[in-house]
Amino acid sequence: MAPPVLAAQPIAPEQLAPLETVLRSATPDQLTWLAGYVAGFRAAGAPRPASVAPVPPRPRLTILYATESGNAEALANAARKAAQRQGFAPRLLDMADATPAMLTDAERLLVIASTWGEGDPPQRAEAFYAALVADTAPRLSGLRFAVLALGDRAYVNFCETGRRIDARLAALGAERLRPVNECDLDYATPARVWTEAVLDALAPPAEPGADVIRVDFARATPAADAPASPPAIITEKVRLNSSRSTAETWHLELSLEGTGLTYEPGDAIGIAARNDPALVAEILTASGRAGDAALAEALTDRYDITTLTPPMVAAYTALTGRAEGFAIAGRQVIDLLAEGAVPLTADQLTGLLRPLPPRLYSAASAPEAADAAVHLLVSAVRWESHGRRRSGVVSVDLADRRAVGAPLSVHVKPNPHFRLPAEPDRPIVMIGPGTGVAPFRGFMQRREATGASGRSWLFFGARQFTHDFLYQLEWQEWLRAGVLSRLDLAFSRDQPEKIYVQDRIREHGADLWRWLADGAAVYVCGDAKAMARDVHAALLDIIAAGLGKPPDDAAEWLRAAQRDGRYKRDVY
Ligand SMILES: Cc1cc2nc3c(=O)[nH]c(=O)nc-3n(C[C@H](O)[C@H](O)[C@H](O)COP(=O)(O)OP(=O)(O)OC[C@H]3O[C@@H](n4cnc5c(N)ncnc54)[C@H](O)[C@@H]3O)c2cc1C
Ligand SMILES: Cc1cc2nc3c(=O)[nH]c(=O)nc-3n(C[C@H](O)[C@H](O)[C@H](O)COP(=O)(O)O)c2cc1C
Repeated sequence: MAPPVLAAQPIAPEQLAPLETVLRSATPDQLTWLAGYVAGFRAAGAPRPASVAPVPPRPRLTILYATESGNAEALANAARKAAQRQGFAPRLLDMADATPAMLTDAERLLVIASTWGEGDPPQRAEAFYAALVADTAPRLSGLRFAVLALGDRAYVNFCETGRRIDARLAALGAERLRPVNECDLDYATPARVWTEAVLDALAPPAEPGADVIRVDFARATPAADAPASPPAIITEKVRLNSSRSTAETWHLELSLEGTGLTYEPGDAIGIAARNDPALVAEILTASGRAGDAALAEALTDRYDITTLTPPMVAAYTALTGRAEGFAIAGRQVIDLLAEGAVPLTADQLTGLLRPLPPRLYSAASAPEAADAAVHLLVSAVRWESHGRRRSGVVSVDLADRRAVGAPLSVHVKPNPHFRLPAEPDRPIVMIGPGTGVAPFRGFMQRREATGASGRSWLFFGARQFTHDFLYQLEWQEWLRAGVLSRLDLAFSRDQPEKIYVQDRIREHGADLWRWLADGAAVYVCGDAKAMARDVHAALLDIIAAGLGKPPDDAAEWLRAAQRDGRYKRDVY
């Protein structure tokens, strides 16, 4: 007969069998000892059986980003990691690969979007954006969202894309969790704070007694915040235009030895800015702080002392009662301070200024051809407005004040969307007038070093053949060696009528169409305002002619090429 205590079966048969074996063979003394042992075991807090309550499903969260140069993408990745650690099941979506229909089953949405051109979405996000603002966009009620907008206050249409996406999501019935967060170039900290706050707001209420998981953002900071590496050294500096040219373009070689930095053709190099000491002195005088050495040092390396924005004018007026409604067009910080002519404390002055952002320059070399160095092609920016001669902060610092041997604080800004095709035999078409030709020199060096068999065609343009043909001998040598298959040139000022690369594209449209039909990848680099738009229009024309179809079909063809990574632009 079974002992009575075991008859009531709260224990499974497979647990019972070994227990019975022990109990049946035990002496009375052993049974007494075991009874005490079991009581003591329980009192000492033996592991209780695991709860059988079901684990609630992790809340789904969509993180959608629109990026051109990778900042929004890096933040979206950081947000994904943070969301994962906070217990969400995040889905990361690049707008380049998304449609608004993909949001209809989403409940929680974070959008991180930058603005480009003149208030436009990043190019790879254009199709998504167009579909979102179209009348045919789906209703999104049931969706809760928040938008982080990246931009640059130097542009009139500050954070336009993020603001429009925010307004459109709300118009489609989605619930806005908090107002759109507009970030300037120093976006790292505001983005981190925003992400934490939005994830907190979206998280389901915590179970009583549940552990609170804090997010370690320090591990997820984007490249812009990467710790500084040892400086690069300028080892070569040559002006490429002839002395009679109206343009001023510099070839620079920077040794990266000891920096630990590596790059790929297509990447850009960020250079820490340093302000012109003469302008720093003027700013100090205009704010009554001439001779303040500590402030001069801070203004030289840390603050943007040129870009003038409406919020800065408003803050200055609030502080001083002067310069109300000061018109900023064509003006800079010095004009405002000179107009107000009010003494400021150091804190008041720096409180008006934003941090000094670095500037990006395309790598004009491939590492295997440059021997632990990177080459840059820099156009010195100089102009005059409101009776003042003005200089681009970094380009003119490099041109006028940095000599061979000078250290430069640099970082690499990878551009995975502007790389050579993975297939070495794929033909490439490179359209790069002016400094836009820089990455293509790196492309040619890479293709030469790897013996890639794909054909390549360069469209280059500048003002005059004799004075401005950047890297002329190298292109001609590559052409002779067959690394470059074809070179078409547009020198705008060598004849009475202006000729640009887009004119050459149209002129050779039938040939170019054959290259495109053969699967060539097209790269465009350089001026964003006029060139990229005009080249785009020329490409549409030759595609429409090649297809024998109307412009809409050509636009769809080019959009598909863009989605497939066969139409890439790196324009600024
Ligand atoms: C991905 C990327 C790659 C780049 N690659 C290169 C490259 O390879 N080579 C290169 O030279 N540049 C390149 N640039 C541009 C470069 O980063 C800088 O923007 C450029 O050198 C100007 O910087 P700066 O500090 O000299 O001028 P800033 O001090 O930034 O001044 C430039 C600003 O001054 C104003 N300005 C300029 N000219 C005028 C004018 N005529 N009238 C009125 N206002 C004016 C405009 O607001 C302009 O934005 C690249 C940019 C990007 C984003
Ligand atoms: C050529 C160019 C055009 C830009 N146009 C704008 C603009 O119109 N409005 C704005 O707020 N920011 C503008 N920006 C700033 C970008 O939005 C900002 O650098 C942002 O951090 C880029 O993020 P991304 O790398 O994710 O694309 C522009 C930047 C460049 C280089």
